[in-house]
Amino acid sequence: MAELKGILLAGGKGTRLYPMTRVASKQLQPIYDKPMVYYPLTTMLLAGVRDVLIISSPEDTPRFQDLLGDGSQWGIRLSYQVQPEPRGIAQALVIGEEFIGEHPVFLMLGDNLIYGRLDFLRTAVQDLGDGATVFAYRVRNPSEFGVVEFDASYQVLSIEEKPKAPKSDWAVPGLYLYGPGAAKKAHQLAPSGRGEYEITDLNRLYLKEGKLRAMPMGRGIAWLDTGTPQSLLEASNFVHSVETRQGLLVGSPEEAAYRMGWLSADGVRACLKDLPVGNDYRSYLERILAEAGQG
Ligand code: DAU
Repeated sequence: MAELKGILLAGGKGTRLYPMTRVASKQLQPIYDKPMVYYPLTTMLLAGVRDVLIISSPEDTPRFQDLLGDGSQWGIRLSYQVQPEPRGIAQALVIGEEFIGEHPVFLMLGDNLIYGRLDFLRTAVQDLGDGATVFAYRVRNPSEFGVVEFDASYQVLSIEEKPKAPKSDWAVPGLYLYGPGAAKKAHQLAPSGRGEYEITDLNRLYLKEGKLRAMPMGRGIAWLDTGTPQSLLEASNFVHSVETRQGLLVGSPEEAAYRMGWLSADGVRACLKDLPVGNDYRSYLERILAEAGQG
């Protein structure tokens, strides 16, 4: 199968977080000890994506570039494109059309945090073909999300955006897998009532063709999103709890790239140069090298 490409959508105005987001976007805000974008980026790397396009607003794209660079420091490729206005999640595929080419693509929202074993993602990639896969996560409040209904063989029966009367308790998290041809399909979409190219409408096109599968995420996976001050605090508390208990970092792209074999021990050492001596993040990377006999 052709290499899986990744698109990380990190635009939008983050108005629910004003005044926090007046000068830097939501995905640049901290979740405990790292910028938010580190978490979905790390998830993408651990899912096997080495070539990522980051899409953000005209104001924020240069800030992401400053923060993340071209990825060569981590043995990956990062490129950037601007979304002039937040006209919908599905627009990311149109903006990224050239980048995607004939490849399958993993689209992830920059404000979604996934924690746990990611084998389910790798399995979904293997089974993708020319269809699409959405994930499904059981929630108490499905009306606040995309909601998917599926049968025993995981074929999707319906998918709706923030329905008042949800047909299931399965929310659709902000990560989506598409086989080759997704950008072409996204071109067929018309803007919704709220003027956006809805990702749920794109998924409906796949559903009509009988090519939309749902993959439930197990109970061992944590999925958090971070749209409000409260959910931001909850995500920070979650990361803090896990990191304090385990002594392992959640959401370190350096560690992910190292474990994927894309970054050598020397490469990790080179990354240390950008971190002050005594800094916790630096000490963590030093410890990883020491534990691998590379200290
Ligand atoms: O978090 C999962 C949910 O994300 C899904 O369950 C929904 O089906 C999906 O529509 C989306 O719902 P949201 O209400 O969270 O969408 P929102 O418009 O807030 O956008 C999500 C993120 O994507 C947000 O961080 C900003 C970014 N975004 C959004 C749009 C519409 C962009 O970068 N550009 C855009 O044009």
